[in-house]
Amino acid sequence: MAVLPILEFPDPRLRIRAEPVRAFDASLQQLVTDMFETMYGANGVGLAATQVNVHQRVLVADMSDERNQPLALINPQILEKDGSQVYQEGCLSFPGLYADVTRALRVRVRAQDVHGGEITVEADGPLAVCIQHEMDHLEGKVFVDYLSSLKRALLLKRLDKQRKQAATA
Ligand code: NI
Repeated sequence: MAVLPILEFPDPRLRIRAEPVRAFDASLQQLVTDMFETMYGANGVGLAATQVNVHQRVLVADMSDERNQPLALINPQILEKDGSQVYQEGCLSFPGLYADVTRALRVRVRAQDVHGGEITVEADGPLAVCIQHEMDHLEGKVFVDYLSSLKRALLLKRLDKQRKQAATA
């Protein structure tokens, strides 16, 4: 097992569109294991393979307080979505930054498990947010893309400031 380095915005590799997974082999299982370890280690609720510089359609999530409901989705596709919700999102690629984003309230997703079996997940509330956020990463999209240019500029300025403070601390 290994904790993988997480790409941070504005790393251009966060903009790469991920490719479908075709081989459900030991290296995929290793990737998923490492992604869970990386996500839990960083106290995150979700992580897309893109964020660890692997450009395959893989995401992991766990929204539970007890950190005992791991969900791994390979090649996820949204079948249906409805409703809308505003949720304050964060992202391991934007440490310390949070912003309100509007997304669908409910999603029904078809995906594969690590062995290639087909699974369907119905999610609402925070888990639905998380799945949509991580699926965006696989498209090279990040949550600040949803903000107005003014809000985004303010947020990125704050990120810059935090980095400078961290560098001089
Ligand atoms: Ni993210």
